[in-house]
Amino acid sequence: MIFFDQQRMVFHLQGPSYSYVLGVRDGVLLHLYWGKKIPVENPWPLMAFQGDAASFDLAFSRLPLEVPTQERGYFGGRALGIINSQGDDVVSLRYQDCRIFSGKRPLSGLPASYAEREEDARTLEIDMKDQLTGACITLSYTVFRDADVLARSMYILNEGDDPLLLSDVQAAARLPLDDYEIIHLKGAWARERHVKRIPMAQATFTISSRRGASGHENNPFLALVKPHTTEDQGDVYAMTHVYSGSFSASVDVGIDGAPLMMMGLCPDVFRWKLAPGEGFQGPEALLCFAPDGLNGLSHRMHPFIRRHICRGQWRDQPRPILINNWEGTYFDFNADKLVAIAEQGARIGCELFVMDDGWFGKRNDDRSSLGDWVVNEEKLPGGLKALGERITALGMRFGIWVEPEMISPDSDLYRAHPDWCLHVEGRDRTPARNQLILDMSRKDVQDYVIGAICGVLRDGPISYVKWDMNRNMAEGFSPLLPPERRMETQHRYMLGLYRVLEEITSSFPHVLFESCSGGGGRFDCGMLHYMPQTWTSDDTDASERIHIQYGTSLIYPCSAMGAHVSAVPNHQTGRITPFLTRCNVAMGGNFGFELDLTKLTEQELAWAKEAVENVKKYRHTMQQGVYTRLIAPAPGKGRAAWQFQDEKRVIVCVYQDRSFPNAQPWRLRLSGLEEDAVYEDQAHHIRCSGGALMEMGIPMPAPWQDFESWVYCFEKV
Ligand code: GLA
Repeated sequence: MIFFDQQRMVFHLQGPSYSYVLGVRDGVLLHLYWGKKIPVENPWPLMAFQGDAASFDLAFSRLPLEVPTQERGYFGGRALGIINSQGDDVVSLRYQDCRIFSGKRPLSGLPASYAEREEDARTLEIDMKDQLTGACITLSYTVFRDADVLARSMYILNEGDDPLLLSDVQAAARLPLDDYEIIHLKGAWARERHVKRIPMAQATFTISSRRGASGHENNPFLALVKPHTTEDQGDVYAMTHVYSGSFSASVDVGIDGAPLMMMGLCPDVFRWKLAPGEGFQGPEALLCFAPDGLNGLSHRMHPFIRRHICRGQWRDQPRPILINNWEGTYFDFNADKLVAIAEQGARIGCELFVMDDGWFGKRNDDRSSLGDWVVNEEKLPGGLKALGERITALGMRFGIWVEPEMISPDSDLYRAHPDWCLHVEGRDRTPARNQLILDMSRKDVQDYVIGAICGVLRDGPISYVKWDMNRNMAEGFSPLLPPERRMETQHRYMLGLYRVLEEITSSFPHVLFESCSGGGGRFDCGMLHYMPQTWTSDDTDASERIHIQYGTSLIYPCSAMGAHVSAVPNHQTGRITPFLTRCNVAMGGNFGFELDLTKLTEQELAWAKEAVENVKKYRHTMQQGVYTRLIAPAPGKGRAAWQFQDEKRVIVCVYQDRSFPNAQPWRLRLSGLEEDAVYEDQAHHIRCSGGALMEMGIPMPAPWQDFESWVYCFEKV
């Protein structure tokens, strides 16, 4: 899996279907290849460098540098930026040493991919050094036996006598010279992760977040694809970040026209002082090459995230069907009202009742009490214990909402510790949703949050937590840090948060944690390392959700996406969609309800019950199986379809957006089936070969009304 030709100084990293090749020339680490798997042999004869290849002279801008820095005429994007004590930022990294070993080391203080058994992964570490400043870096590359994903990170150590200032820490990956299109996931609150595809230009393209969270607006994901790439064919090069804070991802097209793809910390909001002897661990980036289209990318990333990013008892467990009261009651509830909803939930087979915002302090709206994690006994007499016992007596699990990183100015916590929030002395503290952000870079604040939330979790029979974070950083600074370290705040916040998450999630291993950030504002592999699922979006409108879940599915597995059935007219769009379609869309993720079940008609309750029964029957396939997009919900096309598949069955979901006159019956072709195997959907009286389902397709009726949907379940006979 990792081959090292010591004589020629070539490293060849191989996954099941990709190769990534590096070489050392004159001490400079060069990128030689990334793409489809190639035989292990000396690739140097194929490498032609313009300029003086022997000494490189000023030709650094023509070299495929693996860690591009400011040196010897290199003018492109930088993987590493260091300002030294002389005030310049020249960094000349030269090869020192390497190690190859089985397994993968954890990244100190940061989430990262992992291999359960040593023999499932191999790691290459390469040391390089800048002699003048003493800046040393260790690059880490891990290949996995069962996955076409390469995990990369960089550790920087100051072995010099003077301090260094880090300004850029990025993973840079070169692609073969070719035409490409860029795919990224763009959004906003309630409109997260819509797929955008644009031609690559002779320019630098950057998406980023400076918000202190990966954010609603841009997801830490970039892909470059050959122009005619579809869901099922074409080369895809993708990168994502195992990090939940501000980031930058870019494509920098060099003078030869070949792109350099980069992913790392956002240089606008990051500086880090490295005193002599100090080290800095950069976040991990994941690289994935798929030679078989966007579904090929998803087929590689989904199992990787499920098995090498997500952790804990719930990782492989069927996710409980939940009923959450947020859109049903907002802040207006008491114990009896919640229990009435839970009782209906139990009647239709729900397994978990989640009490959302408003159960603590004096929180009857969003203007107070964040930080005061003490139950409001007026609403919930007897506290979490009494309510939890009433819920569990119904045969359901009990879960709660928390937003531990926040502080309301109107809270006992703020009155006691007005300095505990991120702020800039002498400037206003900009509220958002009436709240400020706790300074998680401070150890005392971290300890408070750990103590408060662990206390809450011990207070009642709680087996699920929705961990929310509803605003981004305005004055994102910690006054506790000396001025020359203030720009470290955002990253220190993330390290503090990760420490808190590690402590809390490992103390309550039986609890299922779901992360949330105003919906899907922090949907990334960093959070998924601590919490195996994320609330996909505050937009629960079925029609909108198809776009959001479709985009999210490019890299994130369906088992990571929360998806709920809500009331109509929808609270975010005012749209009315059929109850069954709302169920069929929510089936595309971790299924739940988010409405007042006591207000459903008997007919709707019957449909809800049937949907719950179906999800229970099929969730193994949907949460652990292979997910394939069949039809993209492109504007104007009017329909979308996706498919879930495991060894035993294939589930196909088809959605019509608005109907149109003179519509005709059509056919939906399935994908990835066994040609000669026979598949049967008893409910639709279809029994035929996989080949026929893939080539002829299922006959679909002409759409007759807006937002119709169909679900087919084929068992392999
Ligand atoms: C955020 C979440 C919602 C809900 C509210 C509660 O907006 O995304 O699901 O929990 O907070 O205030």
